[in-house]
Amino acid sequence: MSRRRLLTGGALGVGGAVAGAAAGVAATAAGHRSPAPAPVDPGAATTVGTDVVPFHGPRQAGIATDPQAHAAFVAFTLHRGVDRAALGRLMRLLTDDAVRLAQGRAPLADTEPELAVLPARLTITFGFGPDLYAAAGRDDRRPPSVTELPVFGIDRLQPAWSGGDLLLQICADDPLTVTHAQRMLVKDARPFATVRWVQRGFRRSRGAQADGHTQRNVMGQLDGTANPRPGTAAFERSVWTGDGPDWLRDGSTLVLRRIRAELETWDKLGRTDKELAVGRRLDTGAPLSGRHEQDEPDFSALDEAGLPVMPDFAHVTRARVMDDRLKILRRPYNYDGAPDPAGRADSGLIFAAYQADITRQYLPIQRRLAERDLLNDWITPIGSAVFAIPPGCGPDGWIGEQVLG
Ligand code: HEM
Repeated sequence: MSRRRLLTGGALGVGGAVAGAAAGVAATAAGHRSPAPAPVDPGAATTVGTDVVPFHGPRQAGIATDPQAHAAFVAFTLHRGVDRAALGRLMRLLTDDAVRLAQGRAPLADTEPELAVLPARLTITFGFGPDLYAAAGRDDRRPPSVTELPVFGIDRLQPAWSGGDLLLQICADDPLTVTHAQRMLVKDARPFATVRWVQRGFRRSRGAQADGHTQRNVMGQLDGTANPRPGTAAFERSVWTGDGPDWLRDGSTLVLRRIRAELETWDKLGRTDKELAVGRRLDTGAPLSGRHEQDEPDFSALDEAGLPVMPDFAHVTRARVMDDRLKILRRPYNYDGAPDPAGRADSGLIFAAYQADITRQYLPIQRRLAERDLLNDWITPIGSAVFAIPPGCGPDGWIGEQVLG
């Protein structure tokens, strides 16, 4: 039996295969080594390439991590019959791969180990879709807010970008690193699941600007200004589940929306109108009532004509949340596909929002925006998916063990 076969234990076998798979992992840990990492020419590698984000910890990496430049969001549909035991094998395997890849080591049976040596802050974050819990017979352990979102009037959702049982959010500062990690993980998931969709996204290259700058999205706006900041109490309270049973605590939830930017009509809009639609200036990102990016918007300020300086239906006015516990963390990536034959752009945001609870935090904001938001004329949601983000794990554990173990 090959090492790989031992690890996966076959896709759908149940009963004894679980023990077999567990033994496979142990045997691997004890006796086998992954292919030796190819030497990197020390003169050729930079810190951008060699930087490592630790995989292990009580919470999964890739959420509080300062966003890397490149991302692949990969959603899977489980094969029929994949049950809790099979899911346990899959998650042990993928966790093992992710640990190695994040360290710049090749996963088992990597035929191109040279591609694994520059992790470039690689993080692999796992998300569980609503139906994964049903497949595992563990619906009682699904965070209650992890259920399909209602359909909003603004939605033009395409099945090709929606739903999913298992999600991998693969982020790194190098696109080849993302590609290789994606290929390794997809290969190992193949006996259990098929790829449902892949969304590739990007932000500014690392090093193009000093770290900590707010990114610009494809519409030209500074995007992320009012986000809760990692390391603050507001971030702790809004992003992570603070208490509850061990399958919930230190987890989070993800809403992933693919939102097309209507760049042809956006381009026709004057700068002032673009700024009014959002409520912030394009150059500095300052609220229309202020001067600097981090100035608090003053929603009561009036102009000479007695009209609100921050329009009532501006995106920021409608999206504003005052209570720290009800904020969301936006960690979006730009996407940019091939223009259609008429030359119309296929661009927008892969809008990833993290919060402790979708019903309490995400939904009220989304409802307000769907009901009235000046920006709606230039953005169209075309994909939607929700996932639970299970807690992280230590070196002896694996992601999802509290649900699938
Ligand atoms: C393509 C779609 C979108 C674009 C281009 C966009 C753009 C922006 C921009 C430029 C800002 C102001 C700067 C900042 O604080 O980041 C902002 C703020 C915000 N957006 Fe969006 N956004 C989009 C979709 C969404 C969606 C779907 C939601 C949630 C359902 C959302 C929630 C928020 C929130 C909560 C804020 C902060 C408001 C505040 O407290 O100041 N946005 N967005």
